[in-house]
Amino acid sequence: MIAIAIAHSNIALAKYWGKADVAGNFPAVPSLSLTLDALLTITRVEFDPTLGADSALLDGEVLTGRPLSRITTLLDRVRERASIGFFAKVESRNEFPTAAGLASSASGFAALALAATRAAGLELPIDEISGMARAASASAARSLYGGWVALRAGSPGAERVAAPDHFPVAMLVAVTAAGPKAVGSTEGMTHTRATSPYYATWVNHAPVLFERVRDAVLARDLAALGPAVEQSALMMHASMLAADPAVIYFLPTTLAVIARVRELRAQGTAAFFTMDAGPHVKVLTQKSAAADVATALGEVAGVKRVIVCRPGPDAYCLDPGLDFAQAVERVRSGAGP
Ligand code: PMV
Repeated sequence: MIAIAIAHSNIALAKYWGKADVAGNFPAVPSLSLTLDALLTITRVEFDPTLGADSALLDGEVLTGRPLSRITTLLDRVRERASIGFFAKVESRNEFPTAAGLASSASGFAALALAATRAAGLELPIDEISGMARAASASAARSLYGGWVALRAGSPGAERVAAPDHFPVAMLVAVTAAGPKAVGSTEGMTHTRATSPYYATWVNHAPVLFERVRDAVLARDLAALGPAVEQSALMMHASMLAADPAVIYFLPTTLAVIARVRELRAQGTAAFFTMDAGPHVKVLTQKSAAADVATALGEVAGVKRVIVCRPGPDAYCLDPGLDFAQAVERVRSGAGP
């Protein structure tokens, strides 16, 4: 009753912000993301009849409190689905290039959902595993799939829009600060919905941006995709800025990177920014321009590092016979799905 799963992080091009149903964790708006190859989580789950409770180790630290209870809630769903009563030992590692504050729940809950269902002996279709991940963290639903992925409002699981190699782009992550984010996404969403007069406008308009993003992805049209991506991110942040009190994720370096991206564009390079519930800036560009854009972003004062990502693969499992250290080594040595 052991499984080891790998899932990659994703960045939304059409953003999700706001829950239609808080208890079930269903998004209020549709979203579309790109799964990234360079940011991933490795998770091993072992159900064991001799255990008296669930335990979880993340990057070598024992989890307690809410981080642990989010994991046990997902494990409870898996136990119910598999009709087993055993507790589990969870071990997980974020393989994110050393940059604090980047690790997201997306790859973590996607890897956990896949490893836990497999360890429990369930061979579920990916969209059902995606639905289990969504209940823990909606963005995690999208990380079960590689490439271009949509999560519709009200839909249990995510769906593939296009394979990773559909469109030769790169996503550059400009790291602008160290440390964890100030306001978590669930808290930020709840507060925005409760207090921002712009929230309703965001929820009404987000589906229009989702359609523009999806159509441009399918058409492999970066010139049409970029402006829709930027509007989605800025409109989401506008809803937070209008909350009472405001939720502000921008730092001076965040704005400096955005200004540099706009400058690059004025000089003829197709580069477009997005940002999430944190101060880092993610820049979408053509694969062929990635190295030059990465250099330009790295020169912006305050940028700590730039991580170059390409479209990443579906979540997958490794041989459960490996111990955790061997699994980490296997992934570091570049063994793919
Ligand atoms: O699913 P969560 O709670 O990690 O929220 C994700 C929110 C954003 O990253 C800001 C947008 C998105 O669609 O990923």
